[in-house]
Amino acid sequence: MKKDLLSIADLSKDEILHLFELSDYLRNLLKRRRPYHPLGGKTLGMLFRKPSTRTRLSFEVGMHQLGGCAIFLSSQDLQLGRGETIEDTGKIFSRYVDAIMIRTFDQEEVVKMAQSSSIPVINGLTDLLHPCQALSDYYTLWKRKIDLQTIKFVYVGDGNNVCNSLLLGAAQLGIDVVVSNPKGYDPNSKIMEIAKKIGNGKIVIQRDPLKAVQEADIVYTDVWTSMGKEPEKKMRQRIFQPYQVNENLLRRAKKDALVMHCLPAHRGEEITSEVMDGSQSIVFEQAENRLHLQKAILVELLS
Ligand code: CP
Ligand code: NVA
Repeated sequence: MKKDLLSIADLSKDEILHLFELSDYLRNLLKRRRPYHPLGGKTLGMLFRKPSTRTRLSFEVGMHQLGGCAIFLSSQDLQLGRGETIEDTGKIFSRYVDAIMIRTFDQEEVVKMAQSSSIPVINGLTDLLHPCQALSDYYTLWKRKIDLQTIKFVYVGDGNNVCNSLLLGAAQLGIDVVVSNPKGYDPNSKIMEIAKKIGNGKIVIQRDPLKAVQEADIVYTDVWTSMGKEPEKKMRQRIFQPYQVNENLLRRAKKDALVMHCLPAHRGEEITSEVMDGSQSIVFEQAENRLHLQKAILVELLS
């Protein structure tokens, strides 16, 4: 049976750890410039309804390095933009390519795509989830040999798609997470329930960001205005101001705390340049690891 990756909740802890091992293996081959082409002759169709730098580049380069190829398709250029259904689009993709990566608004659209296609579907971000990002982020910590079970992981900012996927990953991997966000911007309540059911890590909401980051090992943030929320930008800039990750906030965390951000960042909003370019920031390492981790996903689903 074909496998999809729509949410981290679809994976077990062992499957996630296996992806980390495989990512490391693929990373080492790449660093040693050893060609490895398990996906020779395979094609990934990538459907984007929202912009992207990292996701597009890392999937496209990843497929190329694994011996296959990737085709970028923007929804504006497809018949999807003129009313062809997502189900029919899924059936058509299944006749030409070997897997689909989709970035869209509604999580339900990804589910429909997976149900109507006979090939693996990978969620490349929806309004609800961003599984490839959160998996790459936890791989980044795992790779640094950080003991995931004992860290204090603090997410500061909007309870958005990235936050939701981080919570699901944390629940699988046994990481305790403190989320610090203004009232009304909590992570998705159904996702929090699923995370609680998976149950290996605790979730605490702490509205006060200064209290939240006390003794933190990891301080993670993301944009205040996600793609699709642009009409709320001004209001969000005001509401989220106390949640900016700046030097004053970071001082409350452990001395060697690491700063994470999925990028793209809005410098001067959710994170200052001093912090983002500072010695505690690992944001570009996270971005690089998108490549290694997603190659592992592709090998798992496609070979
Ligand atoms: N982090 C991330 O998914 O970046 P892009 O929007 O550039 O793909
Ligand atoms: N939360 C952000 C993540 C971008 C990678 C957004 O959805 O725009």
